[in-house]
Amino acid sequence: MKNTISQTLEINEVSESKIGQVDFENLNFGKIFTDHMFVCDYINGEWQTPKIVPYGPLTMEPSARVFHYGQAVFEGMKAYKDDQGDTFLFRPDENYKRINKSAERLAMPEFPKEYFFDGLNALLKLDNNWIKPGFGNSLYIRPFVIATQASVSASEADEYKFLIICSPAQSYYSGDVSVLVAEKFSRSASGGFGYAKAAGNYAGQFYPTNLAKQQGYQQVIWTDSNTHEYMEEAGTMNVFFRVNDTLLTAPISDRILDGVTRKSLIAIAEKEGIKVDVRPVKVSEIVEAAKNRSLKEIFGAGTAAVVSPVKAFGYQGEHYEIQKQENSYADYFKKALMDIQYNISEDTFGWRY
Ligand code: COI
Repeated sequence: MKNTISQTLEINEVSESKIGQVDFENLNFGKIFTDHMFVCDYINGEWQTPKIVPYGPLTMEPSARVFHYGQAVFEGMKAYKDDQGDTFLFRPDENYKRINKSAERLAMPEFPKEYFFDGLNALLKLDNNWIKPGFGNSLYIRPFVIATQASVSASEADEYKFLIICSPAQSYYSGDVSVLVAEKFSRSASGGFGYAKAAGNYAGQFYPTNLAKQQGYQQVIWTDSNTHEYMEEAGTMNVFFRVNDTLLTAPISDRILDGVTRKSLIAIAEKEGIKVDVRPVKVSEIVEAAKNRSLKEIFGAGTAAVVSPVKAFGYQGEHYEIQKQENSYADYFKKALMDIQYNISEDTFGWRY
């Protein structure tokens, strides 16, 4: 018989839950974590016995390679609870595939599928009370892998830690956001690892995003590193533009994250007969569309942010406001997606797990 993780997983439960101390009505994204975490070490070329242990600090050598060379990848997923108390994940296979794709690009070992799913199931069962029902409530799940080997030699590690931590969440952005279109900085480059959910892709965004904040914008729309003429991603999200009734979004490339929310919205749009053009989107055409008012909407799409409307953008010193649409695509997609996630509508795509 296959030796699945359920037979080998070691569980060390907390003696007392800290859930009573949490104000679930006022959550700041990513600040509070559940009682337990999943941990699995990679040593001597093998993933060792996985464990669920109380959430808490890790002990590592200061020379662990993750601190020096940023060899780290992660995922973002959510668990949802319906009114009957049943818990659902959304397309978790996609996250499993992507963390291994990211790991491969950073020369890290593949994580076994049954470890990922059985570990996740066991963790969510244990911390199930942390998943609150109600539209908009969720448990944000953060699987990640770090290079733990103690050595500052600049090559890939041969020891790693795979962890899953969970954080109760409501919305990521409060309200509509304003974004600045990047003219100088890039999030990623051709031949690089922008498609991977690698820690470094995010660290590199903080400085340009802070500069954008000084100008009154919350996020940056990244443009291509070669010419800065094409729109790519928005902050922590993929980005969509609605020009008249057509949706535009950039094709996936080695610079752009293959977002699960992005591809789900494209599938919903295609099913509903909404025209989607997946093609390079020129900054100049969006500026032109904003000027002639054919630009109806911009919105970001991501696991944490779900569907996040953009109310204005800045480019070359000009500020362009986007008039709020009645019956917006953003609202429509958000509801269509969340109805599937919260087990409200029929799941014709087979995305609920
Ligand atoms: C997600 O949507 O899961 C993300 O990766 C965003 C995160 C950086 C907060």
